[in-house]
Amino acid sequence: MKTSARVNQIKPAATRQITDISNAMKAKGIKAISLAMGEPDFPTPEAGIEYAIKAMQEGHTHYTPTQGIVELRKEISTYYKERFNLDFNLNQITTGTGAKLLIYEALGVLVDPGDEVIVIKPAWVSYVEQIRLLNGVPVFVDTRKNNFQPDIRDIYNAITDKTVAVIVNSPNNPTGALYQDEFWIDLCRLAMEKDFVIINDEVYERLCYERAYVNPLQLCPEAANHIITINGVSKSYAMTGWRIGFAVGCENLISKMIKLQGHLTSGSSSIAQWASVGVLREAQDKVEAMKDEYLERRNFVLSKLAEMPYIKTSKPEGAFYLLPDISGCYGLKCDGKEIIDDVSFCALLLEKSAVALVPGNAFLCDDHIRISYAASIEELSNAMDKMKSFLMGLA
Ligand SMILES: Cc1ncc(COP(=O)(O)O)c(C=O)c1O
Repeated sequence: MKTSARVNQIKPAATRQITDISNAMKAKGIKAISLAMGEPDFPTPEAGIEYAIKAMQEGHTHYTPTQGIVELRKEISTYYKERFNLDFNLNQITTGTGAKLLIYEALGVLVDPGDEVIVIKPAWVSYVEQIRLLNGVPVFVDTRKNNFQPDIRDIYNAITDKTVAVIVNSPNNPTGALYQDEFWIDLCRLAMEKDFVIINDEVYERLCYERAYVNPLQLCPEAANHIITINGVSKSYAMTGWRIGFAVGCENLISKMIKLQGHLTSGSSSIAQWASVGVLREAQDKVEAMKDEYLERRNFVLSKLAEMPYIKTSKPEGAFYLLPDISGCYGLKCDGKEIIDDVSFCALLLEKSAVALVPGNAFLCDDHIRISYAASIEELSNAMDKMKSFLMGLA
């Protein structure tokens, strides 16, 4: 049977090996502590549950408009006004089944076969595969030399006449870096000059610890026709399972995303949309409380990592990830097995100490490991103790 070259070219997740080991351990009754998931461990705020139940009881259980119910788009409009003083009318807003789908739709609107999309790496796992699914070409700009901050000159040098978009994700998964205002201003100007679109994935914008996230349109309002902003309820409101994302931008691009979505999913779940109305209206204080806890956890893990040999970690300003460099362990052995890269580090840590982390390789960042601190202090403390013993035992 023939299957499409388009799908066959997609790489399986680099986390596969770790998941396989974890499953084998589970089968043997060994429970690993996982700091691998990019998922809040908090419950969905009560307002979300209440609105969902009420929606079901009141019969809001049918198809919705593709772009989402008016009530949700109004809440999103109010949110952008109150939080960033930005104006989006209801035709400049669409909602969908998670930010992930909306990023794919934004790419779908922009990318023809052979078109280039600049990806700032380290990068979240799905950007590259989504670009490839559309037969586009990812072009990489590396931030490692610059403490994970992108340099506008690298973007400039990566632009060709085939460039249609740049994907930006700040605060970043997996680095936690929060990009500088100067970078945003330069990028917006470049987008206008060279006529490409910035896909601004700001799903972690509520989770910034040292300084507030600034939306690029606050810095450069004249770039409004060149930015599609993607956000959602998954990370800020601990609602990953509800699958609601949203996109705001100029009507021309948003209407095309809606047209595309009309043939993919239609609208998203009516009940989840109502739950999202609930949290946007009534759970802002809960978001702040979760953020305070993430900050405490980040500082806790940073202090533990500072006590460990062989690894180097920089302090991230946002999201809930840390990305230590573990190349100092290369050549060392655990029970006779040598650490040769980030994948072997994670595999050995899991086998030996039952702690699951993601190799940086999954995010186009060899030599690093991603630690998610979206877990309780107790779990983090356990995992850090085990990791320290693992490192101390290397020879
Ligand atoms: C950077 C980034 N963008 C988008 C998403 C997707 O979010 P959603 O759950 O809304 O699809 C994730 C989820 O891990 C992410 O880390």
